[in-house]
Amino acid sequence: MRADLTICAAYNAFVSTILVTGGAGYIGSNTTLQLLDAGYDVIVADNLSRGHREKVLPERLRQVDLNDTEGLLRVMAEQPIEAVIHFAAYIAVGESMKQPELYFKNNTAGSLSLLTAMVKANVKKIVFSSTAAVYGMPSKVPIPEDLPYAPINAYGESKVMVEQLLRWFDEIHGMKSVCLRYFNAAGADPQGRAGEDHDPETHLIPLMLRAIQTGTPMTLFGDDYPTPDGTCIRDYIHVTDLARAHIAAVKHLSAGGESKKYNVGTGSGFSVKEVLDAVERVTGKKVPHTMGPRREGDPAELVADSSRLRNEQGWSPVYSGIDQIVETAWAWANRPK
Ligand SMILES: NC(=O)c1ccc[n+]([C@@H]2O[C@H](COP(=O)([O-])OP(=O)(O)OC[C@H]3O[C@@H](n4cnc5c(N)ncnc54)[C@H](O)[C@@H]3O)[C@@H](O)[C@H]2O)c1
Repeated sequence: MRADLTICAAYNAFVSTILVTGGAGYIGSNTTLQLLDAGYDVIVADNLSRGHREKVLPERLRQVDLNDTEGLLRVMAEQPIEAVIHFAAYIAVGESMKQPELYFKNNTAGSLSLLTAMVKANVKKIVFSSTAAVYGMPSKVPIPEDLPYAPINAYGESKVMVEQLLRWFDEIHGMKSVCLRYFNAAGADPQGRAGEDHDPETHLIPLMLRAIQTGTPMTLFGDDYPTPDGTCIRDYIHVTDLARAHIAAVKHLSAGGESKKYNVGTGSGFSVKEVLDAVERVTGKKVPHTMGPRREGDPAELVADSSRLRNEQGWSPVYSGIDQIVETAWAWANRPK
């Protein structure tokens, strides 16, 4: 009995606990799996407003809202927290342009509440889910991190404001952060344990797969952009590669690293038509679709310059070939339910 306790105490001394906000969502649940695979312990803080309870083991889940600072403090008091990975947010650009107050309250004020709890609990490391939307219509592609902030929607602005909060929490409280600006997250866990389930879904690949499964045509927005085939070009990053970037960021902070901002993308873009071809190639089925007009605010091309993350953290994408992205997403879409 005594020996068991000693082994247990020694184990706890070596296992770092990561608090994952938004861990019941798409990227948070996939990153939680990668963290556990890498030997971390994980606690998830999620209010389940847009996530799925079944994606988190009950013993790991704390149902708490970001704006509940005291509730977050209680979670942080349970055990020493090495770092927070902060995914929890609303993510729909269109919704943010109808109800900006929702986005500034949930994403910006919610993050301020989280940072306040972290200061009180003396947790001083955070990896933040930022986005390519901070660049708006970029003046340069591939996009380097040093382009100025130029968001063109309330969602992007809600994330810029958190990046700015983090600067001051570093300067004043010594809180170190890594802001990861994701491009288009896509794909599913290669072992089939987690994938994408947004409601409503707004992302291209799951919408194409759903159109195949239901037979209901989807709309592609615009084929008159200044790109080789006229459709928008995006940088698709496999969710497992994204998760690996978070682990690299945690390691950087645990080693005493300074605050950083990194793009997370592959550096290669695929047009909507190229994605359509990949989906039809991998699934062997036609995607029912119609071509609609452009959507307001869609830049022609968003591709990351991810050389900073590659050079400074030794990260590079492993799973992000477009066919592998579609294969894993298709397997997830066809999982037994
Ligand atoms: N999916 C993408 O392509 C993409 C691209 C760029 C950035 N991001 C960012 O990545 C993060 C995760 O995105 P996702 O696609 O996994 O989203 P998601 O909607 O699947 O997951 C978000 C999770 O956060 C939770 N949540 C939301 N507000 C909360 C609150 N106030 N308190 C507690 N929990 C709350 C939701 O219940 C959900 O489980 C977001 O911050 C998003 O802005 C995503």
